[in-house]
Amino acid sequence: MTHDIAVIPGDGIGKEVTPAAVEVLEALEIDFEFHEAEAGDAVQAETGEALPEETYDLAASADATLFGAAGDTAADVILPLREAVDSFVNVRPATAYPGVDAVRPETDLVFLRENTEGVYAGHEDRLSDDVSTLTRVVTESASRRLAEFACDFVADRDADGFTVVHKANVMRETDGRFRDAIADVADEHGVETDEVLMDAFATRVCLDPDQFDVVVCPNLAGDVLSDLAAGLVGGLGLLPSANIGPERALFEPVHGTAPDIAGEGVANPAATILSAAMLVEYLGYDEAGMAIREAVETTLEEGPRTPDLGGDASTEDVTAAIVDRL
Ligand code: NAI
Ligand code: MG
Repeated sequence: MTHDIAVIPGDGIGKEVTPAAVEVLEALEIDFEFHEAEAGDAVQAETGEALPEETYDLAASADATLFGAAGDTAADVILPLREAVDSFVNVRPATAYPGVDAVRPETDLVFLRENTEGVYAGHEDRLSDDVSTLTRVVTESASRRLAEFACDFVADRDADGFTVVHKANVMRETDGRFRDAIADVADEHGVETDEVLMDAFATRVCLDPDQFDVVVCPNLAGDVLSDLAAGLVGGLGLLPSANIGPERALFEPVHGTAPDIAGEGVANPAATILSAAMLVEYLGYDEAGMAIREAVETTLEEGPRTPDLGGDASTEDVTAAIVDRL
């Protein structure tokens, strides 16, 4: 069976780390057909559009999409791309690896971030010269759909349950609904949950990340807290993510275009290659996914390493070492 994969490198180091991940996918014995498309600042400068229609259509029809990063146009690219795959959850693992100098080497968490609403629903207004407003949207249906996913996810991971992060003590209506809808679904599935206020979570995860495993968050909180966890495990160059929809999905590193190192050929490809591992697992190839993870982990431990991890290897050297170990 052939799998159609949309490949959208974007801008900056997206153009360096995405081909690295494709090289890894090509080394597997899986029948992929890759379809490359443009998005981001460069294509906007050329055509006036950050996300050309053919790129959107490609993501909306491919079995899975691999995306790098976009620069200033990130919001104009990634939000519609997530919509193209009808993604309702962003899965963001934050794992510390042996050999990487992590602030908290015991960190091993997965964030399940609501991916369609909250403060990112796009309802902002300028009411006057003085006042701007934002409408925060939380629906019962999106909260329940996220909770259903979380219940399946903890069953697959053999986790005891999950933690719900919210701020329902202040945002009583919106986060109150989020919390109650999720608790209700978890109850129906017999899955245990606990809850932590998002500000308290920020402190607790820094002091003792070991107390958390699967963490379910509203959109903005998931965005911010998963970047915080990236800091605990040794930097943005290591964090993959998956935007899952009912029929297709989009995989991307958590990091952006890294303008400070773009073009130098030294970006860490690990986050994007680990996103590719999530992609093959999503398509049902668990063994291939595990093989990629092991090759990445061995390379992080034994080298070569890119400069963000204290080494002096290039993106290509690291990719070649990972492909070799595969
Ligand atoms: P960034 O993630 O691009 O970079 C932050 C820091 O982490 C930089 O020092 C960078 O060198 C380092 N870094 C990130 N990825 C790395 C890697 N793979 N290897 C080695 N070092 C790495 O975030 P920043 O600087 O806030 O944003 C830069 C641009 O990226 C902005 O234009 C922003 O809009 C865009 N962006 C796009 C995203 C997306 O397309 N999903 C996500 C985040 C930012
Ligand atoms: Mg972010």
